[in-house]
Amino acid sequence: MGWRAAKARDGVVAMQQNCDDTRRASAKLRCLPSIDSNPPVTPSSSQAPLVCLRDVRFAYGEREVLRGIDLEVHRGQVVAIMGGSGCGKTTLLRLIGGQIRATGGSVDVAGHDVGALGNDALYALRRRMGMLFQFGALFTDMSVFDNVAFPLREHTALPAAQIHDLVLMKLQAVGLRGAAGLMPSELSGGMARRVALARAVALDPMLVLYDEPFAGLDPISLGIVGQLIRRLNDALGASTVMVTHDVHESLHIVDYVYFVSDGRIVARGTPDEIRASEHPFVHQFVNAEVDGPVPFHYPAPAMSSLLEGNGR
Ligand SMILES: Nc1ncnc2c1ncn2[C@@H]1O[C@H](COP(=O)(O)OP(=O)(O)OP(=O)(O)O)[C@@H](O)[C@H]1O
Ligand SMILES: [Mg+2]
Repeated sequence: MGWRAAKARDGVVAMQQNCDDTRRASAKLRCLPSIDSNPPVTPSSSQAPLVCLRDVRFAYGEREVLRGIDLEVHRGQVVAIMGGSGCGKTTLLRLIGGQIRATGGSVDVAGHDVGALGNDALYALRRRMGMLFQFGALFTDMSVFDNVAFPLREHTALPAAQIHDLVLMKLQAVGLRGAAGLMPSELSGGMARRVALARAVALDPMLVLYDEPFAGLDPISLGIVGQLIRRLNDALGASTVMVTHDVHESLHIVDYVYFVSDGRIVARGTPDEIRASEHPFVHQFVNAEVDGPVPFHYPAPAMSSLLEGNGR
């Protein structure tokens, strides 16, 4: 099954630069400590950013969703993107992942202008990214083991014995080695998400993109998944972009946060800056307030113009 077919099945797009990378980084994962004992790696911001968006614009047909986004992810960082429903967060991830091309501005990943890459170069770049898509589910007809093995079998020529060991290491890293033989229907929601994390990092990506990794999780699973995202990032020496609505969990694990509204970045900052912010948008998010600048309604003509009898 080729790249497109794999994506169609579930969007498992974690791929690898080469087999040696996988072996090297997996050696790091073998040393992954328990999730409550490892201080976070200090991100390096002295080098050029791994991801750099400049004045990025994007429209679905006539509908302009992004109107000039500037965003950077430095190597080693975990960065969150937050914003109201429909503001374009998933669209941003799809631009970084090269699934869609910006209609204006530039999207650079690891020094490559993603919008200008040909198919082969884009394919090679995507092999260095891992993704967990919004609502991304496991392949229901495959065991936990086979789900995690899928990208390794798909995108490497590693022998079965090595794939076996790598899968067990990834499952060990998310605490689910003992569940390798289970089917997805036998997992809790939190376990399934952890398997999806293991699958997203199966090929030791340089960049991991998560779209709503906490959706639908109970508070304990949510905390575990959040810590895992941080630990996996640091153990692999990767960088992470995470779209989420969960402000409180995110502020514990991320290095930087961008808030998107009306197609633009309206606020940004470190977790401490976000907590201290008096920006109305940030305040509404952090305090989960109904009233504020985040609109409740999807854009629509005035109600009165749609009512029969014009609302009389
Ligand atoms: N394939 C598409 N074709 C046309 N419009 C789209 C498409 N995908 C998304 N949109 C629109 O673009 C806007 C941004 O969508 P996007 O999925 O990026 O939002 P989001 O911020 O991820 O929302 P949510 O938090 O609900 O997941 C929405 O108004 C949506 O209706
Ligand atoms: Mg979305």
